[in-house]
Amino acid sequence: MLHNHCNQGDIKDDIAEILVSEEEIRQAVKTIGAQICRDFEGEDLVVIGILKGAVAFMADLIQEIHIPIEIDFMAVSSYGQGTTSTGEVRIYKDLDISVEGRSVLIVEDIIDTGITLSYLKRVMLSRGAKDVSIATLLTKPSRRERHVALDYIGFEVEDKFVVGYGIDYAEHYRNLPFVGVLKPEIYG
Ligand code: IMP
Ligand code: MG
Repeated sequence: MLHNHCNQGDIKDDIAEILVSEEEIRQAVKTIGAQICRDFEGEDLVVIGILKGAVAFMADLIQEIHIPIEIDFMAVSSYGQGTTSTGEVRIYKDLDISVEGRSVLIVEDIIDTGITLSYLKRVMLSRGAKDVSIATLLTKPSRRERHVALDYIGFEVEDKFVVGYGIDYAEHYRNLPFVGVLKPEIYG
């Protein structure tokens, strides 16, 4: 296999442990894509990626969906964790296309408290979506505050802060091709 490593400043050097490898991600994406093909055959499907974390998963997943779809993106921010615990979610970038009467599949990087996704699901239904499903690369069930039904799950992870394959720490590490945990000295 081609060894792709930068000599200096390679972000892979900041990783303590790989939790989900490139090959495991590839397999999961294929499996989920095949399930979605089967489940939405004949449906009018809109696939919505949640920016920015879902970009890697979304890009790979849609190529494994072989039925006609439209794609769109939303950018949201949850104030569920951290300073406030109101569970308030703010939409920074909304959809360009209508979901009324259509099947919606939301693609997310990781479900943590569930606050973001339970909110988005409600928003889509209030806009008249026929049905709303969720595909997430990762889930941390131990952290859940809101119940949210997940239709397609890549991997369950324990309560560790993860990065890679779209997921960031302070906006970095999204471009790692796998999911891992940073070395303790990286967290400032
Ligand atoms: P929640 O489910 O509403 O708590 O929000 C999930 C969002 O929190 C994800 O889309 C990520 O942006 C962020 N998040 C949760 N866990 C992690 C993590 O381990 N690393 C990086 N971001 C995370
Ligand atoms: Mg984030």
